[in-house]
Amino acid sequence: MIAHVKTSIPGPNSIKYKSVSEKYESRCLTLQAPIVWDHAEGVTVWDVDGNRYIDWTSGVLVTNVGHSHPKLAGAISEQAKRLLNCYDFPTVERVTLAERMVKLAPENLDKAFFATVGSEAVDSAVRVSKRYTRKFEIISFYGGFHGRTTGTMSLAGKMSTKKQFGPVISGIIHVPFPDMYRNPFGSSERDVGGQCLEFMDTAVNAQSTGSIAALIVEPYQGAAGFLFPPDGFLKSLEKWCMDHDIVFILDEIQSSFGRTGKFLALEWENLKPNLVCIGKGIGSGMPISCLLAESEIMDSLEEGDMSSTWGGNPICCAASHAILDIFTEEHLVENSLKIGEHMKSRLKAMQDKCPYLGDVRGRGLIIGLDIVKDKRTKERDPETTWKIINECCKHGLIIGAVSGNVIRVAPPLVISEEEADESLDIMEKVLTNL
Ligand SMILES: Cc1ncc(COP(=O)(O)O)c(C=O)c1O
Repeated sequence: MIAHVKTSIPGPNSIKYKSVSEKYESRCLTLQAPIVWDHAEGVTVWDVDGNRYIDWTSGVLVTNVGHSHPKLAGAISEQAKRLLNCYDFPTVERVTLAERMVKLAPENLDKAFFATVGSEAVDSAVRVSKRYTRKFEIISFYGGFHGRTTGTMSLAGKMSTKKQFGPVISGIIHVPFPDMYRNPFGSSERDVGGQCLEFMDTAVNAQSTGSIAALIVEPYQGAAGFLFPPDGFLKSLEKWCMDHDIVFILDEIQSSFGRTGKFLALEWENLKPNLVCIGKGIGSGMPISCLLAESEIMDSLEEGDMSSTWGGNPICCAASHAILDIFTEEHLVENSLKIGEHMKSRLKAMQDKCPYLGDVRGRGLIIGLDIVKDKRTKERDPETTWKIINECCKHGLIIGAVSGNVIRVAPPLVISEEEADESLDIMEKVLTNL
């Protein structure tokens, strides 16, 4: 048994450090279950009161190889003793990581550029698309999330990401995303993917000045509540981009590194985007991101056009090498698919027993639990969602939510079936005793 909560929640030490946080830190950070983390290993987290939990968050879909994996920690500490930073001078760690990343990608993507965080990789993708096409408009989706810099915030299809932070950059054209649970066109019987594709031409015709550089989309929308589009939708988007001669950018910041049960989510539909943004799991806790690109597009930038102080620094590249080794040695992509299917089927079975569990959706180890007031109206229920988050925490399971009411089931990909079952038992107990 992992879960072991021996104090009231929050425990006395968590209360103490939370009050320091309230006094000295900005309250802009995301609200979490009421504990202060101390250390973690694999899927297990200890708080500062010695309570033990199973983690369904992976930070925020980051620690795919598990918390503080010894091989990763070893690679980081060895590299720290050798070389920490040398800006854009090539290092063995960086150039060989570029080679490994390109070899793992579809054939058309033959160049890699390393940055620090996801937003920076997305900003870079937008920048290179503009230079390549000499155009400036970008198509993005309702509900989409691509980061929090001014550029990426402007792409967001949700007001909460940009409220009162305007003006945003101009030239962003927003179009509806095929949400299969809450159809953006209402309760129509028609295929939502087809409806969205049909509407794209209308929306573009109304909003564009005829200067579209690129379209950006997530393989599944994360921050909007883990919305997976219907099969074939992304392939149709790829064709749409080709037909309109614009750059197709796939934002795999959170879906890459095995999260959906494939190394890259694009493998589900054999997609061939022109640019792919990768983040989170590539560092499993270290700040590194990567833009994979077709060389014709990437090489439209001149020397000195794009770089960053910490981009591709040796310590993060050494970490990513260790992570790629761990993926192979521990079969993490396969485990994500296998345990993900197991968790999804047990969670779906809970739907009948819980009046609030409106939808269970996902692929691999990214599953969303849509908590609603009424399964018929699908009205979102943030209040019950928070009750579930707090109750799970009291029973030794750490979860988080997006979009106010969608619980994120995203444990580290190293989770075993026994660990998954223990955590599912906690969730079942909480859902059936609310
Ligand atoms: C799809 C997607 N794109 C971009 C980002 C931004 O990444 P970062 O927070 O590392 O800048 C995120 C972060 O959650 C994301 O989920």
